[in-house]
Amino acid sequence: MTLHAADVAQPAAPPEEPAETGRFGEVLARLAPALDAFAADHATAPFPPYRPAPGDPGQGPLPETGVGIDATVDELSAVVRRGSRISSPGFVGFITTGASTSGAAALTATAFAGGQRYTLHAFNAIEHTSLRWLADLCGLPDGVTGVYSSGGSSANLIALGSARQAAYERLGHSVAEDGTLDGRPGRVYASALAHRTVHRSAAVLGLGRQAVVPIPVDADGRVREDELEAALAADARAGVLPIAVVACAGATDTGSVDRIDRVAAIARRFDAWLHVDGAYGLVANASPRLRPLFAGVEAADSWIVDPHKWLATGVGVGATYVRDAGVLTRAFAEGEAAYLEGSFREDLAQARSQFDAMGGLWGDQSLELSAPPRGVAVWAVLREIGRAGVVARVERHVAFAREIADRVRAHPRLELLMEPQLSVVCYRYRPGAGVDGDELNRAILDRLRRDTSVTPSGTQVGGRFAIRPCFINPRTTEREVVELVDAVVRLGDELTGA
Ligand SMILES: Cc1ncc(COP(=O)(O)O)c(C=O)c1O
Repeated sequence: MTLHAADVAQPAAPPEEPAETGRFGEVLARLAPALDAFAADHATAPFPPYRPAPGDPGQGPLPETGVGIDATVDELSAVVRRGSRISSPGFVGFITTGASTSGAAALTATAFAGGQRYTLHAFNAIEHTSLRWLADLCGLPDGVTGVYSSGGSSANLIALGSARQAAYERLGHSVAEDGTLDGRPGRVYASALAHRTVHRSAAVLGLGRQAVVPIPVDADGRVREDELEAALAADARAGVLPIAVVACAGATDTGSVDRIDRVAAIARRFDAWLHVDGAYGLVANASPRLRPLFAGVEAADSWIVDPHKWLATGVGVGATYVRDAGVLTRAFAEGEAAYLEGSFREDLAQARSQFDAMGGLWGDQSLELSAPPRGVAVWAVLREIGRAGVVARVERHVAFAREIADRVRAHPRLELLMEPQLSVVCYRYRPGAGVDGDELNRAILDRLRRDTSVTPSGTQVGGRFAIRPCFINPRTTEREVVELVDAVVRLGDELTGA
């Protein structure tokens, strides 16, 4: 039986819209006390594991009837009390932190008034401005084109998708159009410490995770150029197409920065695209003191940087920059679509409707069509603290890592696993004879989270488990730095009976 629209039962009168769509200020004011209390309560508290339980705020079956905006916001206030702890001063795990106040304000304003990154409005204008400011801050060359996405994962995918497009175009093939790698295998060459989103990008791009060649690193965690060159040379002899060489500008495990100038020279020699993964570290190139670490960065073909890391915009903002804007469009264009009617033109003279001019080419340069203007949070943070404020934050955090390294070196029961280059520092409690150092330090890490106000994460350095704080959190202070050393000694002593 075929069902026609006329067969669907119609209500007697059209139902009214149940959602509140106004009272913004009032509703935000209702939520505000919970947010302030959250920030105060969690400043010094330990970070217990959270498991959702029946009866917790926000749990239960799908409501048949809504409770209305005020009760919903009250429940949200209760959820806030048990919310994410990544903004607490002692949270120094992974490479993540929450928004500073300007970032959160920008995200809130964007949710209310910035809705969509296309069509004519002021949020889109400041998104463009923020891309220009961010490139300038990170020392990228003039004329690069930037596009925002949700974070480093998608930013790496966009960069490596561009690299793949360019590599096969040199063989006369458009992978984006024809969907073929022309039977010619392609590889990506990256430090053994490269972030696994490089591998995921290779998987998604049809190259395969195995196409990422892990190049060994030296004692400082920097890629070994002799090994890189040897890998590229061997593959060139075997007819493998080099898709990209990835340089780490701040490796996730250790904060190591590859010698980008040397890596760039090798990539050039093999006609390979150079991509700089600066999701975490590239912001440090804003500091004149740290700039020598990034020598050669301007020679790359693409770069990524995550404002949601060291700039504390709030999670959900990554940026990809490329030297050649055209390749972005060739790789990621949605294609002609009647429903868009020639929107996204940048040339006002070509404008055919009121929606044409401001948004830029976003929809054809990345993975998303609809998206919020994410750069508004970047704009707000940079407007609030300026270049000098970013440099002060970065240098303070790098000094924190060095202070820990100094304290660890000076302590007989602590062991530094690698000299810090940026704001990551890897160390551990020195195991006594017959003690499994990995197991002991895993236990210390667990106790840190449960019993103290500091929460680093762990990793492996040279096959040994390391306690690894990474300082990007604007709320972290000297107090947490001291505790990160003292608490490891205290807990290590307690666990070993020293
Ligand atoms: C060097 C590097 N690249 C990429 C990523 C992935 O970024 P995201 O978590 O924003 O997707 C990270 C995350 O920490 C990273 O450190």
